[in-house]
Amino acid sequence: MTIKVNRSVSSFGVSHDEVKRSVQIGDDECEFKTLSVVPESVAEMWESLSPDVRAVLVASELKRSNTHTQHQRRHQQRQQFDRSDSCTTPTVMSPSSSLTVSSDQNSSLDTNEGGDDEGGGEGEDGSDDYDDDDGDVHPPLARKKRHEKCPASGADVVLSPLERAPDNVYAFTKTRTSEKTDIVVTSSATITTITKVVSTSRGWRNVFALPISYDVNMVAHGTLFDANNTQLLDSTGVHPEGYNTRFAVVDSAIYDLYGDRIRGYFESRGIKLTTCVIDGGEADKRPKAVDTILDELCSYKLRRREPFLAIGGGCVLDIAGMAACLYRRGVPFVRVPTTLLAIVDASVGVKNGVDYCCQRTNETYKNRIGSFYAPSSCLLDPGFIASQDARNISNGLGEVLKLALVRSSDLFELLEAHGRTLVESRFEDESLKSSGVSGRIIDLSIQIMLEELGPNLWESKLDRCVDYGHTFSKLLEMVPGADIMHGEAVNVDGFFCVVLSYLRGYIDMSTVRRIFNCMKMLNLPTNSSDLNLELAWQSCKDAIEHRHGEQRIPLITEIGESICVSDITEEELTRALVMMGQFDHTSELC
Ligand SMILES: NC(=O)c1ccc[n+]([C@@H]2O[C@H](COP(=O)([O-])OP(=O)(O)OC[C@H]3O[C@@H](n4cnc5c(N)ncnc54)[C@H](O)[C@@H]3O)[C@@H](O)[C@H]2O)c1
Ligand SMILES: [Zn+2]
Repeated sequence: MTIKVNRSVSSFGVSHDEVKRSVQIGDDECEFKTLSVVPESVAEMWESLSPDVRAVLVASELKRSNTHTQHQRRHQQRQQFDRSDSCTTPTVMSPSSSLTVSSDQNSSLDTNEGGDDEGGGEGEDGSDDYDDDDGDVHPPLARKKRHEKCPASGADVVLSPLERAPDNVYAFTKTRTSEKTDIVVTSSATITTITKVVSTSRGWRNVFALPISYDVNMVAHGTLFDANNTQLLDSTGVHPEGYNTRFAVVDSAIYDLYGDRIRGYFESRGIKLTTCVIDGGEADKRPKAVDTILDELCSYKLRRREPFLAIGGGCVLDIAGMAACLYRRGVPFVRVPTTLLAIVDASVGVKNGVDYCCQRTNETYKNRIGSFYAPSSCLLDPGFIASQDARNISNGLGEVLKLALVRSSDLFELLEAHGRTLVESRFEDESLKSSGVSGRIIDLSIQIMLEELGPNLWESKLDRCVDYGHTFSKLLEMVPGADIMHGEAVNVDGFFCVVLSYLRGYIDMSTVRRIFNCMKMLNLPTNSSDLNLELAWQSCKDAIEHRHGEQRIPLITEIGESICVSDITEEELTRALVMMGQFDHTSELC
């Protein structure tokens, strides 16, 4: 014989039933039965509400009552109420039944037999929404409840907008229902007890979207510090008290090369410039450098809305961006990139950060500490590229080629045709400048970056083609003592991914060769002695950790097209490494 017993156990965070309440209006005390409890948040602020707002609240309560006679009476009372400046706070009554606020934030168990599995706890009247029968909605109370399911717990979530911030602040209840089955076998029967457990919790949700807008301004080649160019000055804005000072974080290489011009630019306008000079290069991209800038900002006493300038390569911009985001919990800053890599990549997005050495593991992690924090604007002067050495220019072209491989065969063809000249002339070849080729390469790169980053600034979407070349490169760059720059590491990773694509049959050998040759023309490394199975497999594991449970490694399917894959195996990496060894990476072409 089988006996089935059903039992319900309810646990409530907060439970509000419909209650009787009263409102003092003028000399009359009015009683409204069947109205909902006035949320405590409103009651608490009742004294501070203006008569108009009180009138709207009461009017809304009245409208929610559902008998015609009450409707007429409400109208009269509202008119009286409108004239009254001295309304007392509406009485907020506790629910007659148990009110249990759980101490563990989620729920507390209350073993009411036959408990209400809806919880009923949002402190509202239980109606679906607040639209009136006649469709007339009062703006401050135009509240729509929202229902959703919590993906983690499966709880049903009811969000009720709060009265004074209907668009973004909600009170919620979360109701979670689960079943527990106990089976007891005796000599004569099997007793199955199914216990239904309903738990609710309550809280508030604030939904807020930041408006993000920043201009990426092109500056005419080499004119940023010209006396008649006001872009640098304009970018630092205006202030009610006026500014006759400016603060700039400057890359030490830039300070050496352009310090006189920078100081002259401000001096000629009677502006006192304070500079904080820090070294570029990956080795110094650490929290200590951020501290240095913060110290200087404190002693300069940078005001809350006073933008400071950050002038330098990708490392200095990443460090300065982090300081900007921390100082006074965020101050505006203007990015002035001075390397090709920073012009086309590091300056146009909203990321910043530093590498971090963990005291426990003694490992240094690339860009492990940082934030998403938009600059107030960027000023891009390609004239800075001319003072970079050839290796640094190739390094920047590593990021440009990455964009070409995943998004633009046009850009690839431009690099294929002119890359070598661009490197050798440091982007100063007159015919490439006058024919617009150099400018087109820079413009296309920036546009592709912005097209990719723009809709996904906070990287909510983790399948990102711009992560091409950024899976294995992170560990390659962090190998102690490794002499490899960021764009170079991206390129080695990029070529390894080309080989992976080939082994998967996504691209043919002629495409592999074409890409290899282009990389060589740009003077970029295609392999590294540090790229071995251990590093490659660890990179895949790190990717899973960083990209929410999946590898999401971008591979190309042809030049200019890519997909993200998450099923790369150790065996596949082994075969790709063997194939990498078959290329003569020291030769010019293959
Ligand atoms: N935030 C982002 O979205 C983002 C994107 C891509 C790369 N990055 C970061 O950027 C960094 C690489 O940037 P980088 O390639 O510019 O390297 P870098 O900043 O280290 O600059 C390279 C060297 O060139 C010097 N330098 C700078 N401008 C110069 C100029 N005009 N003339 C001569 N020398 C100059 C620097 O002092 C440095 O010694 C990496 O740390 C990378 O992680 C960030
Ligand atoms: Zn990069």
